[in-house]
Amino acid sequence: MATQTVPLSERKAWKALQTHLQQIGGKHLRELFADDPARGERFTAETGGIFLDYSKNRITDETLKLLVQLADESGLREKIDAMFRGDKINITENRAVLHVALRAPKGESIVVDGEDVVPPVHEVLDKMSAFADRVRSGEWKGHTGKKIRNVVNIGIGGSDLGPVMAYEALKFYSQRDLTFRFVSNVDGSDFAEAVRDLDAEETLFLVASKTFTTLETMTNAHTARDWALAKLGDEKAVAKHFVAISTNAKEVAKFGIDTANMFGFWDWVGGRYSMDSAIGLSTMLAIGPANFRDLLAGFHEMDVHFRTTPFEKNLPVLLGLLTIWYTDFFDAQTVAILPYEQYLKRFPAYLQQLTMESNGKHVTLDGKQVEVQTGPIYWGEPGTNGQHSFYQLIHQGTRLIPCDFIGFYKTLNPLGRHHDMLMANVFAQAEALAFGKTAEQVKAEGTPDWLVPHRVFEGNRPSNTILADHLTPKVLGQLVALYEHSVFTQGAIWNIDSFDQWGVELGKVLAQKIIGELESESEPKMAHDPSTTNLIQRYRKNK
Ligand code: F6P
Repeated sequence: MATQTVPLSERKAWKALQTHLQQIGGKHLRELFADDPARGERFTAETGGIFLDYSKNRITDETLKLLVQLADESGLREKIDAMFRGDKINITENRAVLHVALRAPKGESIVVDGEDVVPPVHEVLDKMSAFADRVRSGEWKGHTGKKIRNVVNIGIGGSDLGPVMAYEALKFYSQRDLTFRFVSNVDGSDFAEAVRDLDAEETLFLVASKTFTTLETMTNAHTARDWALAKLGDEKAVAKHFVAISTNAKEVAKFGIDTANMFGFWDWVGGRYSMDSAIGLSTMLAIGPANFRDLLAGFHEMDVHFRTTPFEKNLPVLLGLLTIWYTDFFDAQTVAILPYEQYLKRFPAYLQQLTMESNGKHVTLDGKQVEVQTGPIYWGEPGTNGQHSFYQLIHQGTRLIPCDFIGFYKTLNPLGRHHDMLMANVFAQAEALAFGKTAEQVKAEGTPDWLVPHRVFEGNRPSNTILADHLTPKVLGQLVALYEHSVFTQGAIWNIDSFDQWGVELGKVLAQKIIGELESESEPKMAHDPSTTNLIQRYRKNK
């Protein structure tokens, strides 16, 4: 199935933005603020306690008007409605895209292929809650009758990054007598280090894989089973120490996990959009069912905002449009995600899969080569650490790097002046990036002439500042949904399929073939390029 859309470069708003860029592209943020001091208050938007200040962007009212017009001409409204309706908008896999159904309240109805998917979502949530209560209370016992004290999630990509990020983000709310570990890498060291101090009798493995065929996860799951059985000595122990989270009951049964211990989800949940499905079981075990439901409520609140708010005031749409503006009109290659909240330390890594697996595409939905750059590189680290590492390049390097600062009015761990000091850095960094320091200012400080150029900050570096009260499960849900829908907005404008991931296939297929070549006793017949053949031979000789 192909869809026809007016090419980007032929959309009226696109052309108007190109002309508009000539007028304002060279303007400095100092000038933009001097001309329009009210922009600091006007270019803000808020929903459900999430506040976005986007005034330090290289835009004017006209830019915003044209970007919103671009969204309209790109059919963003229709595309949003199609997603929420359950249309099969992931056309290359012929699937609906319904992570929004995972957080739809009981009583809502979303129909896919004649079935209302909301009731089964709640059935799984109820099953997860009952299980989580049993494990958290100690009622669920291991094979030898001991309480579960350790939970090891085995998964990769969307079956790992969301769970790890959410566990770290919500650690404050977690049950502290449970230890959580996450194993993703097929590198045996990941598994070995995760279990080295754990007692198998007290350890529960969650095997999280949408397909239940992913090489890394299945290899780790088999190793985990061998490890557990070596200590517990009885096949029957699997039922007490392994649960599966998957869409593939057949493979789960084949692995030896009773499907009664399986928590399901559906093909309309993309891996990178699945942390609020059963894939979030580790999160629920950590923070409890009530907190998990607050997380879902946060997602849902942002979903409603995205679906119903005019684009001019719509946080995910604004973030998405600004990303288009810098990526395609200023040639920006990346977006830096800078959380000033230690608990969000894995948030940038989580967003990398969400954004880059979604929008790292080079053909449009009609199968044509895209005309412009698509998905930028998302990256980042917790804020103050980044300041002493890579911020130099953002301030004085030659690249334009739009930044998202994320901060909170309150900390979960009040300790003397720490929080004010932390937040002072958010405001200072955004201010320095935007306004910089001129040669005149540097000279006025008595800097010798030869040193002046080194100490000048050009400024004019754009940023968004996102603020909320304090980090809660609900706020985390809102933040994740904010970026999910920003990704959607970008994909809608580029007219790409943000929900497939064919780009990870080729490497997987080749690796399967090479595994045999690395392991074969006799010299394998290899049909690779000379470089790969040479590397394989070298490895075989030295391993
Ligand atoms: O990286 C490819 C991918 O398919 C991701 O989209 C997915 O999150 C990950 O692999 C893991 O897949 P699964 O949950 O099926 O093991």
